[in-house]
Amino acid sequence: MSADLKKRAAAAALEFVRPGMRLGIGTGSTADEFTKLLGAKVAAGLDVIGVPTSVRTADLARSLGIRLATLDEMPELDLTVDGADEIGPGLALIKGGGGALLREKIVAAASARMVVIADASKVVDPIGAFPLPIEVNAFGLGSTALKIARAAAELGLDGPLVKRVKADGSDFVTDGGHLILDASFRRIPDPMSLARALVDIPGVVEHGLFIGLASAAVVARADGVDILSP
Ligand code: A5P
Repeated sequence: MSADLKKRAAAAALEFVRPGMRLGIGTGSTADEFTKLLGAKVAAGLDVIGVPTSVRTADLARSLGIRLATLDEMPELDLTVDGADEIGPGLALIKGGGGALLREKIVAAASARMVVIADASKVVDPIGAFPLPIEVNAFGLGSTALKIARAAAELGLDGPLVKRVKADGSDFVTDGGHLILDASFRRIPDPMSLARALVDIPGVVEHGLFIGLASAAVVARADGVDILSP
C-alpha cells in the first residue's frame, strides 16, 4: 500500500513539471518513484535538465536517460521534487533518512520551488519521532556530539545520539565524506531554535531540519492526494 501511495504522490508532483525546467531531483524511495516517472516522460519527449541530490539518484536518472547537470553548471533551478521523513506544521521537514541531507538542502535552496512528496503517514505534529539526522565531520566526533547534546538540553530536548552505521557495522559515510549522528529527540516543538543552535556548533556540517524551504507538499492518502501549503 505504502509503495502505491508513494507512486501516487510522485505522479501528482509530475504535474508541477513544465518543458524546459531545471529540476532538482531528490533522494529516497519516494523520490525514486518520481525519477522513474520523469524518465518515462523524458523518453516520450519531455525536455528537462536535472540536478541530482545524490550519487544514487544520479545513477538512476542517468540510467533512465534524464539529462543531468551539476549546480556549478546550473546554479539556479526552477523546481526540486524530493521526499521527506516527516512533514510538520508550516511544512517544516525532517530529511536525511537516506543520508543525502546536505546535497538535498543545497539543491532545495537553489530552487525557486521545492515540492515534497510523501504518503500521509509522514505528516506529523510535532516533528521529531523520526530520529533527526545530523551530518558531522569525523574529526572531533566525541566533542561535537557532546556540544549537540548540550545545545539540545538547553532547549529541553534529550535522547540518544547514535552514529549511523551500515548493515556490516562500518560507518555510514555520506556522499560528502562525512558521518551522520541520528538524534532521537522524540518531539521537536520548536524546530527553528534547534536548527539555529545546531548550525552554531563547529563540526556540524548540516542537519536534517528543512525549514522554510518547501513551497508545497503532495501527500497521498488511500482515497486521494492533498496539496499542503506552508
Ligand atoms: C534522503 O536523504 C531523505 O531525505 C529522503 O528524502 C527521506 O529519507 C525520505 O525517504 P523515503 O521516500 O524513502 O521515505
